[in-house]
Amino acid sequence: MPIFENKDKVEESQVLETLGTVIEPELHRDLVTLDMVSDVQVDGSEIDFKITLTTPACPLRNQIEDEARAAVMAIPGVETVNVHFDANVPQDNRLFDQVQLKARNAVAVASGKGGVGKSTVAANLAVSIARDGAKVGLLDADIYGPNIPLMLGVAGQRPRVMNEKIMPVEAYGVKVMSMAFLVEEDQPVIWRGPMLHGAIRQFLTDVDWGELDYLIVDLPPGTGDAQLSLAQSLPLTGGVVVTTPQDVALADVVKGIGMFKQLKVPVLGVIENMSYFIAPDTGNRYEIFGHGGGEKVSERMGVPFLGKIPIDPTVCEGGDTGKPIVVEAPDSPAGESLRSIGQSLAAKISVLHMTREGFSASPDLKIMQ
Ligand SMILES: Nc1ncnc2c1ncn2[C@@H]1O[C@H](COP(=O)(O)OP(=O)(O)O)[C@@H](O)[C@H]1O
Ligand SMILES: [Mg+2]
Repeated sequence: MPIFENKDKVEESQVLETLGTVIEPELHRDLVTLDMVSDVQVDGSEIDFKITLTTPACPLRNQIEDEARAAVMAIPGVETVNVHFDANVPQDNRLFDQVQLKARNAVAVASGKGGVGKSTVAANLAVSIARDGAKVGLLDADIYGPNIPLMLGVAGQRPRVMNEKIMPVEAYGVKVMSMAFLVEEDQPVIWRGPMLHGAIRQFLTDVDWGELDYLIVDLPPGTGDAQLSLAQSLPLTGGVVVTTPQDVALADVVKGIGMFKQLKVPVLGVIENMSYFIAPDTGNRYEIFGHGGGEKVSERMGVPFLGKIPIDPTVCEGGDTGKPIVVEAPDSPAGESLRSIGQSLAAKISVLHMTREGFSASPDLKIMQ
């Protein structure tokens, strides 16, 4: 036997110690302190371990993997590193405590006015986050113009009733509920405040959503009483405001942010839709409605800017034919930006849980006391 046989024998404790130097870029603490590392296995020179992310839609997953791998590879004697992943989304307990919803987070999508692409964005974000592996529900709370089912190709379907609960309709891995499922087509829905409130409450209590990581709520356009009342029907983890870059729309962003602030709902960010156009023949970029408006408003209001989505006829066609662009053309500029905004949104929710009082971790996630 060679006398140096055990010289570079790797210990599990060494692996943990090393991973304790790898910082989670968004949460700014190391992986071990965050309790994200488990299942460390040492088999000679081959190391396996698991990293539990705070969302399956983690934008920094590759970076975290690279850094963790590089750190462990640097331990003398290590030749192979296998990084495994899973995710445990932190939980806003108020959803269960107050409205008995088994959803870990609820996010409302608002806009100052109609036609900015709020529903398009909400639908694509929901589908994208679901494709990343999260359990996602989409509540179409735009009772005046409920068009989410159309956008996701499930218009005309009727939800089933099981055990006296309404089952949401499934589309692209997302559980969808909409007033459009319950009213006859072409029949205008006229609601007064209390009825509205009642309808949404029913969507929360009478629908069997099952367990969700994220419930995304598409609010009616505007920031008036109806929107306020809706947003109050459930404890919202956070809110998102969708805008276009025109000055008139940007003035409305301030109102949207103001609405969430009034409700003490953290603003997770502003999304600028129809920001620019890339000519398909030349690849030139045209900023038809001006430049940088959404970013400036976000900065001025002290809220995050989540990203820009270009104008793309495929987005519009997809909306009409029920095929969201994140499915039809995920690598197109619009598809890519929607996917990346979905991940940023999920990451912002994780960060919020780390910093905000009144939030607590799910029992098996010990990153917050
Ligand atoms: N980035 C985009 N590029 C092209 N068309 C878009 C884009 N975003 C939205 N649209 C189209 O604009 C119209 C309005 O979008 P919608 O999501 O219904 O707006 P809102 O919910 O704010 O009223 C729809 O026809 C939609 O397909
Ligand atoms: Mg809409």
